[in-house]
Amino acid sequence: MNIAVIGAGYVGLVTGACFAELGNQVTCVDVNEQKIQNLSQGILPIYEPGLEPMVISNMHAGRLNFVTSLSELPFDPQVIFIAVGTPSDIDGSADIKYVLEAARNIGAHIQQDCVVVDKSTVPVGMAAQVLSSIQQELKHRHLSLNVDVVSNPEFLREGAAIEDFMRPDRVIIGLDSDHAKNLMLDLYLPILRSPERIYFMNVKDAEMTKYAANAMLATRISFMNEMAVLCERMGVDIENVRIGIGSDARIGNAFLYPGCGYGGSCFPKDVRALIRMAEQYGIDAMILDAVEKRNFQQKQLLPEKIVARFGENLSGLTVGVWGLAFKPGTDDMREASSLVLIEHLIQRGACVQAYDPAAMGLAREIMPKDWFNNDQLTLVDYQYDAVKAADALVLVTEWKPFCYPDVAAMKNLMRQHIIFDGRNQYDPRHMNEAGFEYYGIGRGDVVEVGAVSSAVA
Ligand SMILES: NC(=O)c1ccc[n+]([C@@H]2O[C@H](COP(=O)([O-])OP(=O)(O)OC[C@H]3O[C@@H](n4cnc5c(N)ncnc54)[C@H](O)[C@@H]3O)[C@@H](O)[C@H]2O)c1
Repeated sequence: MNIAVIGAGYVGLVTGACFAELGNQVTCVDVNEQKIQNLSQGILPIYEPGLEPMVISNMHAGRLNFVTSLSELPFDPQVIFIAVGTPSDIDGSADIKYVLEAARNIGAHIQQDCVVVDKSTVPVGMAAQVLSSIQQELKHRHLSLNVDVVSNPEFLREGAAIEDFMRPDRVIIGLDSDHAKNLMLDLYLPILRSPERIYFMNVKDAEMTKYAANAMLATRISFMNEMAVLCERMGVDIENVRIGIGSDARIGNAFLYPGCGYGGSCFPKDVRALIRMAEQYGIDAMILDAVEKRNFQQKQLLPEKIVARFGENLSGLTVGVWGLAFKPGTDDMREASSLVLIEHLIQRGACVQAYDPAAMGLAREIMPKDWFNNDQLTLVDYQYDAVKAADALVLVTEWKPFCYPDVAAMKNLMRQHIIFDGRNQYDPRHMNEAGFEYYGIGRGDVVEVGAVSSAVA
């Protein structure tokens, strides 16, 4: 099949590479010229395990290429995926301008009937807007073509994107035409092998499914974070509670891990967008409001614990930070808890030495330049350089090398032996036995939460 993918970011690039891997002819289109130039030389804009060799081998096989405009497609596509960003607008709703721009470009360039597949996470009703934008452009060109717009929300997880794409739990497809249905079956059957895990529904149902899925997962995290705060006050260990409730088949273990707040390119913005959507329909999204509020509070928790331990003024203190990406397996730092933590630490006068296995390049690009003034923030190249002469270590992202650290080396390198574990990766007793003062999330170590003034909130 001839496939165009608009947007060569986390979703578009994975989609393009995986469909090429399955033998399709794929062209990825992105307005970012630098990104396209690099991709054409096999240089990837993101870190995603397994993606680079897949992109390069499919380019060499002649099944995958990269261009900056639909006018440069080497074929007439049967399917066009839209995989552009839908970031939060100022009011929290999804900013749909990139999707509409992609739709107008489709209308301005297609020469034959095609199916347009919306993979971006878009507000309910967006497919109709996409179709109308395409049709307007076609009208300007005095062309009458059959275009179906399908909603096919993406559920891949960064860090496991290829596995998730190639072996999905299910594929959700919202459509209202038989032609589009047959084409989507042709596309996805090589992945799923049987049609049972392809769920066809109408377009708006599919659009909503994506938001509801992310909102549910974010809710589980915020719920557990709230339980953790409560456990901590009551001297209860949330980790035992987590195991206790997760073993209930009705509840399950996934997304029950308390921590220092969720980030990334999806949960925060999708929860906000759903709250705004509810507002537009006169619904007060009380649960989602609380999910978001708890997440905001949770991101203040590590700074609060550090202040509770060292006092409001952190000047003279050196803090090592392990993990900058919003989760392991990716270099994505959108809405990462590390950013909130580092900002607090710097504003209170601490010096920060931070390390991440994948996000260092991006961190150098996106972190505010003034954070680097007077050596307040140093990005180090090796994990243990972050703890050299440090008064405390903060674990923010649970990358594997951080979960099984060389405690003896840390003992030698650190000035004070204090650990703030934002992801409950360490056993408090082991850390205490090794001579470390240990603070986790909800481990019953009773640190006053919310006791810090709002000076840096
Ligand atoms: N990142 C994830 O894990 C994930 C998972 C599921 C769904 N999604 C959703 O998928 C969509 C894309 O997310 P992402 O993380 O891949 O975004 P991204 O920011 O990584 O990539 C978007 C790309 O689109 C390009 N772009 C913008 N406008 C364009 C246009 N008019 N024509 C061509 N290219 C254009 C940008 O230059 C960028 O490279 C979002 O709606 C997101 O919510 C993301």
